[in-house]
Amino acid sequence: MTEKQVRELLNKMTVKEKINQMFQVSGHLLEEEKGDIVVTGPLEELGLKKTEIPLIGSSLGLIGAKKIKEYQKKFMEAHPNKIPHLFMLDVINGFRTIFPIPLGQGATFAPELSKKCAKIAAKESAVSGIHVTFAPMVDLVRDARWGRVMESTGEDPWLNAQFSKAMVEGFQGDCLKDEYSIGACIKHFAAYGAVESGKEYNTVELSEHTLREAYFPSYQTGIEAGAALVMTAFNTINGVPASVNKWLMKDILREEMGFDGVLISDYAAVGETIAHGCCADMEEAAKRAIESGVDIEMMSNAYVSSLETLIENDIVPEDLLNESVYRILQLKNKLGLFENPYKDADEQKEKELILCEEHRKVAREVAAESFVLLKNEDILPLKEEKKVAFIGPYTSSHSIMGSWSFIGDVKDTITIKEAAKSAMKGRNVSFHKGCPMYRVDDSFAQFSPNEQESVMTKKEEEALLQQAIQAAKEADVVVMPIGESYLQSGESMSRAMIEIPEAHMNLFREIYKVNENIVVVLFNGRPLDLRELKEKAKAILEVWFPGTEGGNAILDVLLGKRIPSGKLPMSFPYCVGQVPVYYNHYTTGRPFTGADHEDRYRSKYLDIPNEPLYPFGYGLTYTTFQVSDISLDKTEMTKDDTITATVSIKNIGNMAGKETIQMYIQDVSSSIVRPVKELRGYQKVMLQPKEERELSFTIKEEDLRFVLPDHTWGSEKGKFRVFIGQDSSVKAYKEFYLI
Ligand code: GLC
Repeated sequence: MTEKQVRELLNKMTVKEKINQMFQVSGHLLEEEKGDIVVTGPLEELGLKKTEIPLIGSSLGLIGAKKIKEYQKKFMEAHPNKIPHLFMLDVINGFRTIFPIPLGQGATFAPELSKKCAKIAAKESAVSGIHVTFAPMVDLVRDARWGRVMESTGEDPWLNAQFSKAMVEGFQGDCLKDEYSIGACIKHFAAYGAVESGKEYNTVELSEHTLREAYFPSYQTGIEAGAALVMTAFNTINGVPASVNKWLMKDILREEMGFDGVLISDYAAVGETIAHGCCADMEEAAKRAIESGVDIEMMSNAYVSSLETLIENDIVPEDLLNESVYRILQLKNKLGLFENPYKDADEQKEKELILCEEHRKVAREVAAESFVLLKNEDILPLKEEKKVAFIGPYTSSHSIMGSWSFIGDVKDTITIKEAAKSAMKGRNVSFHKGCPMYRVDDSFAQFSPNEQESVMTKKEEEALLQQAIQAAKEADVVVMPIGESYLQSGESMSRAMIEIPEAHMNLFREIYKVNENIVVVLFNGRPLDLRELKEKAKAILEVWFPGTEGGNAILDVLLGKRIPSGKLPMSFPYCVGQVPVYYNHYTTGRPFTGADHEDRYRSKYLDIPNEPLYPFGYGLTYTTFQVSDISLDKTEMTKDDTITATVSIKNIGNMAGKETIQMYIQDVSSSIVRPVKELRGYQKVMLQPKEERELSFTIKEEDLRFVLPDHTWGSEKGKFRVFIGQDSSVKAYKEFYLI
């Protein structure tokens, strides 16, 4: 349809029809039962009559080409103006082929791989009838206690901004109408990742300066990439819940960032402004949400219960209603739904495309690229002749996809044991669970779909342990797949103690007593306290939640078929008391450099170091690299100029290896304090033993910019430092001046 035709359609609609376009219900409420859609309970509480269901503009959670085509047909036939329904879903790290969790994708330092994953996810979603995904989540994260850090690509604004752009491009392709393109939804606007104490749904208190400089960039680049939707955050900003925050949604999102797409609330977030103690009732919530430009209200009924009266009484101008409904109709039009309401839904293609070998191959490649080798005392890759015992609850677990993998099926995943049986055929290997994944009295166990996972008596647990200890005694090397359950990181999964489950650590300690040659394969959705493992394990391979092909990818790396090259996208704290800890912090007026320990009046702790256990950007590979000092082609630049910083990197080991060399910039003095370092470039290199290569980085004026006192981005003349190294703890730098 042309824009003119969309306008004409809008003018034909009744107020009630328009309001229902602004309402999104969970698909399970629309599920037919006994041959008809049951309007009971929640739907009625939401103020919906059965006759109105076809008028609803969108739903979330329904999947399947057959089912969605049937619903769309039914809705279109019943709709007075034949307006197609939008089917939306959380497709976060894959649809049915599941890729590493986004935090793992961040560890690849390769946004182009995430674009590839998003493209495949879009294809599998589109043939299953989905039009929009609630992804990418681009919230900056600095607090490992927050469960949703697993959904982010980490603590660096500049890197997150690149992943945000790449993922939007992957989901949406060049045009929403194109085959296999689905709408992307940037979330959660804004700064949901800054919840106080890492506690879920908690308050956010940030200066506008920090909000703009650290949190806005990843939303901005996703919007510039053309994201079709933005989702409001649950939290307050400046004391006002985001969904009714006019400054945030009109002045910033619409005006400054130029977003003209559909703004959807998070789940019931408009209704929850009452619980926030902000809106007195649904009427006020409806008024303030539409005044803030929220176009679709997800799963609360402020709009459907109050907007008609507000408009009739001229409390809300109908123009606001028309603006929102126009944006919704435009989204449907951009997706081509008026011409083809079924878009790419296709049962045959579902069978051909979903989980096809090509998709699995990408899942395996990206998983391997996401792994971070945290420690390796010459025990990896596993040597052919070694007798290996795999001991740990993740040895045979299929639950390796992460908590936002609803459509992924555990039956599709490749376990470590399955992969090892194939990849290590003929070698001396054994497999042992060693301990339960978790215990039924663990708080989260109630949410497990397979609660039988760990219902064991003490006697059964002891038998498992003894069997494992015996196997460890007889092995040369013990590989221990342990870590958090996927039920311990994700939404509503904040943790105040960020430790590996006690049962797993107890198993580790018992095995360590009889065999110290331990390789830990770590499954987790957040940075954890790894002090004991760092001290005792011979190797630690961080695998996050690697997805469908996780087992194969892990064996590829353990056996050296693929070289580990991941880099931490988020600092691993020394302990939870250090949280939030992030590399791009300010110096403070009394920086503690470690040399002046006798000087007590420094910014430090009495009982722990300032440095994280593992810093942002850290990750080893199967060799050792030597990085030279930096050389600069000049030490002064104007705004229109650039400086070239060069290092040479040499593989001084005896195996090939991959390194991500990172460039950081520090603005030494400025009108607003600046972080001690900021990532502004990186290059990945694969070098053969003894191979040397020169790497050059171009420093541009835009790399020196920050949010000035007037809230615009700009640079200031003066002294800068450039650091180039293998992670954010790099100390050596060279100085230059912007003149
Ligand atoms: C959830 C999440 C959001 C998700 C939405 C729909 O509460 O906060 O990220 O997209 O509801 O499932």
